[in-house]
Order: sequence, then structure tokens, then C-alpha cells
Amino acid sequence: MTAKVAIRGLYKIFGPNDKALVSLVQDGMDKATLLDQHRHVLGLRDINVDMQPGEITVIMGLSGSGKSTLIRHLNRLIDPTAGEILVDGTDVMSLDADALRKMRQQRMSMVFQKFALLPHKTVLENAQLPLSVQGADAETQDAEGRKWLARVGLDGFEGRYPAQLSGGMQQRVGIARALTANTDIMLMDEAFSALDPLIRTDMQNLLLELQKELQKTIIFITHDLDEALKLADHLVILKDGAVVQQGEPQGILLNPADPYIEDFVSDINRARVLRVRSVMRPLSGAKFDGDVPANANLEDMIALSDGDTRLIYRVMDGDEAVGQLDMKDLVKALVPRISGSDTAA
Ligand SMILES: Nc1ncnc2c1ncn2[C@@H]1O[C@H](COP(=O)(O)OP(=O)(O)OP(=O)(O)O)[C@@H](O)[C@H]1O
Ligand SMILES: [Mg+2]
Repeated sequence: MTAKVAIRGLYKIFGPNDKALVSLVQDGMDKATLLDQHRHVLGLRDINVDMQPGEITVIMGLSGSGKSTLIRHLNRLIDPTAGEILVDGTDVMSLDADALRKMRQQRMSMVFQKFALLPHKTVLENAQLPLSVQGADAETQDAEGRKWLARVGLDGFEGRYPAQLSGGMQQRVGIARALTANTDIMLMDEAFSALDPLIRTDMQNLLLELQKELQKTIIFITHDLDEALKLADHLVILKDGAVVQQGEPQGILLNPADPYIEDFVSDINRARVLRVRSVMRPLSGAKFDGDVPANANLEDMIALSDGDTRLIYRVMDGDEAVGQLDMKDLVKALVPRISGSDTAA
């Protein structure tokens, strides 16, 4: 698969002498020393990430880890100190002003944490905005604006003003606006972080439902691991401007690469997040106690088995048997692997 967005050897240092200082960082100078000795802030260090078409790539990390800095490179709101950002194979640094404007309008849309709606425009006018910027005719603007508002559940609210809507509804307008732009890449920086937990869950479900149909390339930033695990096809974990681990989320949960990530994943409800496919083993000649879908989560399995750890199920992906789930393996997977504890009997 060719990456939709590829980030190669990306470094960002904030300060006037960034280009001169990058070799020090490449030779291993850390963030604190760079700040201490050179009064420059290390934003990103040697980032290499492939974002695949039709997938949700989630960038996660604590405050200050470089998430916003990274996403802002994609549409060149920030220029890199070193490295490449390739969108469909083209380095965004090679674009002139006109090509850059076109890319921002036609290839990428953004959904912001604070919604960023225009207060004196109606919901419909806000949703149409990308098309009016692109110069579409009034009829198209109207039809597309209404279509996407309906799609995010805001049928009937077209004439209202943003201040008359709840936060969750305002963010639905933000999403409709991004969809109206009809871009194949969507950038979402903490898009749901300002919402109440229940509304936030609704929005996550809405995004997943839309994604099933639309297959956008979504880059989603969050500092919330539950949200990351729910949304991510590919999860990238940042710490102090560097990637500490990236990959399929279930794999990261089962095999955290370092103590920072072990810490992150230690509080998660593993029974709810882990799927049968992640903890199954190859088929043997065992006698099975039933068939279960590969995508069932472990919580479902505990209920199904009534907690009986002697049971063994055959795991099905559609009509195909793809492995077996020993309930004993499931129980082991419920306990986080803590480094240094491998020798425990
Ligand atoms: N314009 C700037 N000038 C100097 N330093 C900056 C600038 N922008 C960001 N930084 C620094 O770069 C680092 C990464 O910041 P960034 O905003 O990308 O973090 P973040 O992961 O998005 O954090 P948050 O979760 O709080 O939004 C921080 O140390 C920050 O202080
Ligand atoms: Mg940020």
C-alpha cells in the first residue's frame, strides 16, 4: 500500500537558528540540553510515519509531546527544520503559494477542538464555507451543505446560529463543514476533547460510521487512550517530540515497547478493548465448546463462557476458522505485561 501521507526524517526546532542546530539534535542532544545551552525548543525529532489511505491514524501523547506541531506540518502551517512531508508522493515543501493554497482547499480539511465556527453565519452558511471559498455555485453550495448537515444529524437546524447550538451540535457542524470540502484527507486536532463524555462517545461513533462509508485518510490527535484505541487503525505514540511506539493498537496494548507506554496502557479496560483475534492461537485438534467471531471483545467472551477458564472456542472470521481461543489465554491477556515480571511463575 502506498502511503497517502508519508513523514520522513522530520525534525522541528523552534528558534531562529534551527537549521544550524539540527545536527546537534541528530547527534543525540536532548530537548532539555538544547533549551539550556542554545535557547531553542525541540518540537519534533526524527519522525517517520506512513499514513495509509482510508485509515485513521491517531497521534497520541501527553501535553507538549509535539502532536499539534506534527499535524501542522501536514498542511505547512509550520515549516520543518529538516525532513520531508509527502502527500500523495509530493513533498509539500516543493509547493509554491498557489499550489499550497489549492492543497489546503482541495486535499485537506480540518476539524478543530474549539469548533471555529463563524458566529454571524448560519449553520448552513458555516457548513457551505469550504465550497464558497472554492468558488462553487450557489446551488451546489446549498445542496452539499444540506446533505452533510443531514448526514451528521442536523436536519432542520440549517437556519440557526452557532451560539444557539450545544457544543456537541456545534462540533457536528464542524464535521459537516469538513465533509462539505470533499477532501480525501481530514486533520482532527483534539476535535472531541472539549465535549462531555457521553457526547464525546456519540461523536466517536458518528466518525466511525461516516468513515466506514467515506474511507477518508484521517489524522486524529488525542491525549486520551480510550479514544485512541477506539478510533485508531494505526496508533502513533509521541513523547518529547519523538515516536516511542507505533503500530496496530491491539499490538501496542499487548506488547508495550517501553515503561512510558506501559504506564499509559495500565489503566485501560483491557477486556473491553482487546479482541479475540489479538489473543487467539493457531487451531489445534482440540474439541471446541463453540464458535466465536474474531472481532468479539474479551468482555463478551467472559460473559459467553460464564467465566469458565477450561473452555476453548473456535474463532471464525465469517465462514473461515482462523484460530482458537483458550479462555486461559484470555485471562492472561487481561493482566498488563509489566517489564521485568516475565520470570514470575
Ligand atoms: N511556536 C513555538 N515556539 C516555541 N516552542 C513551541 C512553539 N510551538 C510549540 N512549541 C513547543 O513544542 C513542543 C510541542 O508542542 P505542541 O503544541 O506540539 O504539543 P502538543 O502535544 O500538541 O500539546 P497539547 O496536548 O498541550 O496540545 C512544546 O514543548 C511546545 O512548548
Ligand atoms: Mg496540541
